[in-house]
Amino acid sequence: MNLETKRLKLRATMPEDKSDIFEYRSDRETNRYQGWIPKSPDDVDVFFSRLSAEPNIPDSWFQMMLVDKESGLIIGDLGMHFSDDLKQAEIGCTLNKTYQGKGFATEALTRVVDYLFNNLEKHRVFASVHPENTSSIKLLGRLGFRKEAHFVESFYANEKWEDDLIYAILEREW
Ligand SMILES: CC(C)(COP(=O)(O)OP(=O)(O)OC[C@H]1O[C@@H](n2cnc3c(N)ncnc32)[C@H](O)[C@@H]1OP(=O)(O)O)[C@@H](O)C(=O)NCCC(=O)NCCS
Repeated sequence: MNLETKRLKLRATMPEDKSDIFEYRSDRETNRYQGWIPKSPDDVDVFFSRLSAEPNIPDSWFQMMLVDKESGLIIGDLGMHFSDDLKQAEIGCTLNKTYQGKGFATEALTRVVDYLFNNLEKHRVFASVHPENTSSIKLLGRLGFRKEAHFVESFYANEKWEDDLIYAILEREW
C-alpha cells in the first residue's frame, strides 16, 4: 500500500529500513515519550515481527515509512493500529529530529487520516500521547483531534508509571 503527499511518499516498512529506523528511534532524548526505544538493531527485528504485512487486519499494527520525494531519504515512520472490529484506528508518528519542525508529520498524517476515513471507512481515529509531549499535542490539534481523556499513571514505560492523554476525531468531524 502506497500513499503520496506533496513532499512525501508513504510506503510499507521493509526489513531494509532497519538501520534508518534504529538511527532515529534509538535517540533517547527525541523519543523520551515513546514506549519503545530500541537498544540495538536486533530490537528493530522484534518490532518488525509484531507488524502486519498489510493494513486493516484486526488487532494489528501496520507501519509505513515517510520518504522525502526530493532526496529519497527516509525521514520517519508512521503506525496505525486497527481495532478488533476494524471500525477504529490508533495512529502514531515519529520523525528523525533533522526533519522535525517542517510540517512533514502534519502532511503525512493528514493523508493517512484521510485514507482511514475515506478508503477504510473508519468511524473514529485516536492517538495516545504523554501529557508533556507538546509537539505531538500541537500536531494532533492541527489535525483537528479533540482531547478526550487524561488517564493517571495508566501506562508503564521505561520503568515508571506514566499518565496518558487520548486525542480523537470522528469521521463526521474530519
Ligand atoms: C510528534 C512529532 C512527529 C511532531 O513533529 P513536528 O515536526 O513538531 O510536526 P510537523 O512535522 O507537523 O511540523 C510542524 C512544525 O513545523 C512548522 N513548519 C515549518 N515549515 C512548515 C511547513 N512547510 N508546513 C507546515 N508546518 C511547517 C510548523 O509551524 C510547526 O512548528 P511548531 O510546532 O513550532 O508550531 C515529533 O515531535 C516526533 O517525532 N517526536 C518524537 C516521537 C514522538 O514522541 N511521537 C509521538 C507519538 S504519537
